[in-house]
Amino acid sequence: LATVEVDLSAIQPGQAIKTIWQSKPVFVRNLTAAEQTAARKVPLSDLRDPQTLDERTKADHHNWLITLGVCTHLGCVPLGAAEGENKGDYGGYFCPCHGSHYDTAGRIRRGPAPTNLVVPAYAFKTPTLIEIG
Ligand code: FES
Repeated sequence: LATVEVDLSAIQPGQAIKTIWQSKPVFVRNLTAAEQTAARKVPLSDLRDPQTLDERTKADHHNWLITLGVCTHLGCVPLGAAEGENKGDYGGYFCPCHGSHYDTAGRIRRGPAPTNLVVPAYAFKTPTLIEIG
C-alpha cells in the first residue's frame, strides 16, 4: 500500500505500536509528558544528528513520535516499541544488533548508528487518525 492509516485512539501515553508501511516497520509512539521533557532537555550540541523533538513531530501533536522501526546502522528492527522491551539507556529504542541507543525523540545517542530513526511522511486526518505515506 502506498499509504496506511493508523488509529491512535487506543494508544495510551507511554505505549507504542508497530505497523507496516511499504514493507517497513513503523513505530507509532504516544510520548508521556516526562518523555517529551527528557527529549527537550537535551542540548543540540550533544546530538550526533541534531534535531529537536518539535522538528521530529507535528505541531500540536508533539506527543506522537512516528518513526521507521529500522536502525540507521544496518537496518535491524530496534526494541522498545512493545511492552516490556528494552528501551535502551536513553528511554527510546535500543538496537541489539550492534548496540545503538535512541532517545525518546528517536534520536541516536550512542552506538554505531549514524543518524536518527527516520520520520516518514505522514499527516493527521483527525486528532486520532494519521495517514502515513
Ligand atoms: Fe542497529 Fe547495527 S543494525 S546497531
